[in-house]
Amino acid sequence: MAAPESGARRSGSTRRQFLLGGTVAGVGAAAAIGIDLALTPSITTVASPSAPLNGDEIVPFHGAHQAGIDTDAQAHGTFIALDLHDDVDRDQLRRLMRVLSDDAERLTQGRAALADSEPELALTPARLTVTFAFGPGFVSRAGGQAPAWLQPLPAFGVDQLRDEFNDGDLLLQIAADDPVTVAHATRMLLKDARSFADVRWTQQGFRRAYGSVAPGTTMRNLFGQVDGTTNPRPGTTHFDDVVWSSDGWLAGGTGMVVRRIHMNLDKWDKLDRPGREQSVGRSLTSGAPLTGTAEHDEPDFAAKTTIGFPVIPEFSHMRRARPDDETQRIFRRAYNYDERPIGTEVSDSGLIFVSFQADIDAQFTPIQRRLDELDLLNEWTTPIGSAVFAVPPGCSPGGYIGETLLA
Ligand code: HEM
Repeated sequence: MAAPESGARRSGSTRRQFLLGGTVAGVGAAAAIGIDLALTPSITTVASPSAPLNGDEIVPFHGAHQAGIDTDAQAHGTFIALDLHDDVDRDQLRRLMRVLSDDAERLTQGRAALADSEPELALTPARLTVTFAFGPGFVSRAGGQAPAWLQPLPAFGVDQLRDEFNDGDLLLQIAADDPVTVAHATRMLLKDARSFADVRWTQQGFRRAYGSVAPGTTMRNLFGQVDGTTNPRPGTTHFDDVVWSSDGWLAGGTGMVVRRIHMNLDKWDKLDRPGREQSVGRSLTSGAPLTGTAEHDEPDFAAKTTIGFPVIPEFSHMRRARPDDETQRIFRRAYNYDERPIGTEVSDSGLIFVSFQADIDAQFTPIQRRLDELDLLNEWTTPIGSAVFAVPPGCSPGGYIGETLLA
């Protein structure tokens, strides 16, 4: 269900390169490290130039699109939905987005935010990205034209939504490979947002820690499934067509769905391995379709078992989720969640399902409708939260996120 951890990465650079104006050419590596250390008082060990620290890695903030969408998914992601105070008007929204954009720009580049209370924590960006997205309330308060799909999704039979995880006016997606970095960025952003908005809900998610698996490994969810195999690859025209909008103030932005989906691991425990594989139509070991041997093999939906049943069951998740219509594609970039179990349960786990697509009505909703009608996975998964946002485009130096709507 989520983005492959591979694909074209947003042109990342290390903090060291950033501090040296983008290049270390002409400067000896040892001298480069010396400069870095001089500017970073908290570093006490000398990093080898051949083993750069992941904590130094920077994802550019400025660009045509916001970071955090086509960026290789970081290990930790926090999602925070805010409700705007009643008296916040368009001018204040502009002020809010200027301040938050300034914070995000500094923190993602490894610099302290203005009036940063713990500036040392800002020096390890660890590929931090901050992605802002607007709910229907934000766009109407801004007096903007909302895309037709910017409204709560239709009700689905599988839903057992809890208001504490639904909707919101402004979403912050804060992601990095280091949870301390995420915590610090979250706090700085919320401190600057608090005179404009209150927190409605927060969801914290994770993938494998940085360095645990080879770069390019598709993520696994807590059912143990390889999840994200068929995603469009960032850097391809297919990805661009699926994800980026070309409409009005949203041009260069996208639509975002955030669904909290509880995964009943206790019930899943009772299912044998063949049953688990048939529920999706893929091998648990390799992620290959049940008709193939390697993760990216094309599935053969016509293949039959010796007794005449389809090898990939008709109601398997992959078969039901796969659209015949090429325009119904989405880009999944999910995170696992794992909360404290309650009562007799031994787990409270699931997926923060996140998908990006230019048009939610045309791309996401038909897939979700099919899954709602029939999907073997529904036996073990229950959507408990749902929210829809419009992600505005990126901005240039001197600009701010949301300026195409608010300027
Ligand atoms: C907890 C809930 C879910 C789990 C555990 C899950 C898991 C998976 C797995 C293991 C795959 C196969 C590998 C891959 O291509 O990524 C997959 C594929 C897919 N899933 Fe999900 N999924 C969930 C919910 C959803 C939802 C809510 C949607 C959209 C409404 C969705 C859409 C898709 C799509 C489009 C594919 C690719 C189908 C294809 O073309 O082969 N999934 N999912």
